[in-house]
Amino acid sequence: MTRTDAEARALFARLTGQEPTGLWSAPGRVNLIGEHTDYNDGFVFPFAIDFRTVVAVGARDDVRIRVVSTFDEVPVEVALADLDALFPARRDDIVEWARYPLGVAWALRAAARDAGVDASASLTGIDLAFSSDVPVGAGLSSSAAIEGATAAALNDIWGLGLDRVTLAQAGRRAENEAVGAPTGIMDQMASMLGESDAGIFLDCRSLEADVVELGFAAAGLELLVMDTRVTHAHSTGGYRERREACERGAAIVDVPALRDLSVDDLPRAQELMDDVTFRRVRHVVTEDQRVLDAVRTLRADGPRAIGPLLDASHASMRDDFEISVPELDLAVDTARSAGAVGARMTGGGFGGAAIALVDRDLVPDVTAAVEAAFAEAGFAKPHVFTVHPSAGARRDA
Ligand code: GLA
Repeated sequence: MTRTDAEARALFARLTGQEPTGLWSAPGRVNLIGEHTDYNDGFVFPFAIDFRTVVAVGARDDVRIRVVSTFDEVPVEVALADLDALFPARRDDIVEWARYPLGVAWALRAAARDAGVDASASLTGIDLAFSSDVPVGAGLSSSAAIEGATAAALNDIWGLGLDRVTLAQAGRRAENEAVGAPTGIMDQMASMLGESDAGIFLDCRSLEADVVELGFAAAGLELLVMDTRVTHAHSTGGYRERREACERGAAIVDVPALRDLSVDDLPRAQELMDDVTFRRVRHVVTEDQRVLDAVRTLRADGPRAIGPLLDASHASMRDDFEISVPELDLAVDTARSAGAVGARMTGGGFGGAAIALVDRDLVPDVTAAVEAAFAEAGFAKPHVFTVHPSAGARRDA
């Protein structure tokens, strides 16, 4: 049993005085490449990481749902029948972290109704106690991990029989409507579909996913996460603004989504739009192409060959999409100078983490170089650690 499992069990016992019926968990994710492409109907290539949110679960003999977390031991409890009135209209009545699991319960019940599943199943009351080792605010999708663990647990306990894509969609709906963050589907799909030593190559329009072997270990590589500790939130500010710029760009060239443009269309697009909108569009269009190139290159020549694509992705986010920050740029540049095969910021941007693909033997040197560069720049000490492609949401006990 992991420490997170034990914490979730102990928290459940404190809450209810009983043992849980079962334990479910779901991972955070790192996005290898394909940033801000998901909500443009494009391509992404993330993988699930070996940091997980665990939920200890037990049925109740009433029709209420109660959630508690090691981050906030004050339980939040609502009647299942009240969820439809709470979300999205009165979401502010619920403390923010609890909107994730309660939002998933709300979205899952709606998905079950849509799928024609016997609605009475989703009327069983339930207690959920969460613990997580996914770093929060680092751009590693701690929110998708909580959504995925909740969705997997409720799907089983309520006997809904919904498939993994539907569970991911419920997680995204919770995030969009119950929390109010206008994010895409990437994180939830990665957390649901992850497999050990594999990335999830996802078409965000069709939601078709290919599980692609990464082969990092066999190539002697490690994936280093450099958490800058600059926190970000996607329910506010820059993320929403970038999304709006993409929608504006698509409308100007009259396509349903930026996915429908290719690199060859860029000169025409440039003539039609202002410079800022064009650079946002150029990032997304070239990034879609880089995802396709990365998957093809990885399959043909192995993981070492994707380094230049990671580097180009970072440059595009820094210069065209303008979502990097000095700490992310420093982490990326330093890792590369210290010998990384490739490096880029990962996730929504404006803070969070960068990743670097590094020879196993060089991990201590790259880590030391990044820490030293941050100290010299007067930045807070970064948290540098390795992650490994791991299994998606599952029942653990
Ligand atoms: C966040 C969102 C994702 C995606 C990325 C950027 O992680 O949750 O849906 O848009 O940002 O690629």
